[in-house]
Amino acid sequence: MFGRSAPVEVDLGAGDGVYAEVRAKRDLDRNFVAVERLLGRATKIAKKAVRNQLTNLKVLRLESAYFIKNLCAESSLDAVTVRYPDPWPKRRHHGNRLLQKEFLEDAARAVTPGGCLKLTTDDLEYFEWAQKEVKKCAPWVADSSWTGADEPTSEFEELFAKEGRPVYRQAWRRG
Ligand SMILES: C[S@@+](CC[C@H](N)C(=O)[O-])C[C@H]1O[C@@H](n2cnc3c(N)ncnc32)[C@H](O)[C@@H]1O
Repeated sequence: MFGRSAPVEVDLGAGDGVYAEVRAKRDLDRNFVAVERLLGRATKIAKKAVRNQLTNLKVLRLESAYFIKNLCAESSLDAVTVRYPDPWPKRRHHGNRLLQKEFLEDAARAVTPGGCLKLTTDDLEYFEWAQKEVKKCAPWVADSSWTGADEPTSEFEELFAKEGRPVYRQAWRRG
């Protein structure tokens, strides 16, 4: 996809693509894939990448779990980022949540040893639930040294900060 060999980071459910765009501008020696299922959003990210001549940012209009399971070779990714995933708060909808057994196993296969999975969410219940799910998946080990301090912030995160709303972050490394 990129015509060069460099560490690949994937942003799942990329939304308006601010995170992937800022990272691609900042980390020119890394390749980024933004995965977004909505066509309008995916198109917007692709336009930004072209406008800014970001040859290290590609966009796929796809479902995140499908992408990780079917399109990623073993140990091909350096990092997987999941920012503000849909929390699916009702119990009967928990099966739709991204961070659960099958996805976590697929992601552990796709990520290189030592590579990471990073979660950022404003939903405490989802955060605690995700931590329990990851704990059950042996290849992932919590990385308590990651604070997310170096992560780009989006407009709505700045709004959260102004309102004093907490954001929960956790990274895990593939052992
Ligand atoms: C709450 S937004 C967060 C967007 C972005 N990560 C951010 O931090 O601003 C969730 C995004 O994930 C996308 N999304 C939800 N489920 C998805 C899935 N299964 N596969 C791909 N994208 C998904 C939605 O369309 C939406 O753009």
